[in-house]
Amino acid sequence: MKRVGVLGTGQMGVGIAQVLAQTGHEVLLWNRTEDSLEWGLTAIRQGLDRLLKKERISQLDHKDTLAHIRGVVAPEELKAADIVIEAVPEDLNLKKELYARLHLICADDVIFASNTSSLSVTSLARDSGRPEHFIGMHFFNPVQVMKLVEIVRGLATSGETTERVRALALAMGKIPLDAKDYPGFVVNRIVMPMINEAIFALEQGVADAKTIDECMKLGCNHPMGPLALADLVGLDIVLAILESLQREFGDPRYRPCSLLRKYVEAGWFGSKTSRGFYTY
Ligand code: 3HC
Repeated sequence: MKRVGVLGTGQMGVGIAQVLAQTGHEVLLWNRTEDSLEWGLTAIRQGLDRLLKKERISQLDHKDTLAHIRGVVAPEELKAADIVIEAVPEDLNLKKELYARLHLICADDVIFASNTSSLSVTSLARDSGRPEHFIGMHFFNPVQVMKLVEIVRGLATSGETTERVRALALAMGKIPLDAKDYPGFVVNRIVMPMINEAIFALEQGVADAKTIDECMKLGCNHPMGPLALADLVGLDIVLAILESLQREFGDPRYRPCSLLRKYVEAGWFGSKTSRGFYTY
């Protein structure tokens, strides 16, 4: 699978596109507006500039990687893709609409992989019109650095689809591990309650944000503290995942801390809005 469509130019879409291009794949990066597309392409260029500056890549790699990415606005352009990785916002209607459109454009055996972190893969698969060729391919932030890809089969996902997607993850230099289609899969089910608990601790004044993070770094050897991690992932995303865990399991232990809700209401989404538990 050499030609990969990537839908969405948020943190995840941009990271996925960059890693694909760096590992020799032809990328068709899609967003519905020219402005968002330009933003995504600029983010990739800046990421590669940083690698060049650190001498992690050569000038030739830099040029070659960018040449592997073509930004597209018309969904029809994705007809050329062997697989489409969807990383648009977690809006069910938006995803449904996109799948319905692409289902008519792409050949029947083209795989649709979703980077969803909070929706049921089985249910998205049904909406895709091609449940056997639909799968969850869950990357982690920052995609350029994190090795894991959770491979999540829907009830109807075929064995062949799973093998092809696993091979693609390996070709991207990632480590694919299987997770069942339960809310949060493995990582988010464990990490999001931890982040939530850190926010409860902050709300109750157990310690300030910096101290909570330092405690988890020094006491548990985590590379970054849970509040800084929440800022990196995006507080809006953390809230959406916790709400999904609470809704799907029907278990109050996943209830999002009201302080998290307040930050999201204020538009403090973390590093992407320059303000979250820290300022950037
Ligand atoms: N993009 C690209 N590269 C980045 C980056 C970014 N946003 N942030 C850091 N890096 C690179 C740096 O350039 C550096 O590369 P180098 O070694 O080649 O110079 C390397 O990562 C290490 O970075 P730093 O030295 O600046 O800082 P750290 O050593 O603290 O590493 C980190 C930063 C990799 C983000 C590390 O703190 C970490 O692993 N944090 C935990 C991340 C994590 O848990 N992610 C999962 C979140 S859950 C999720 O994503 C699921 C989703 O559904 C919400």
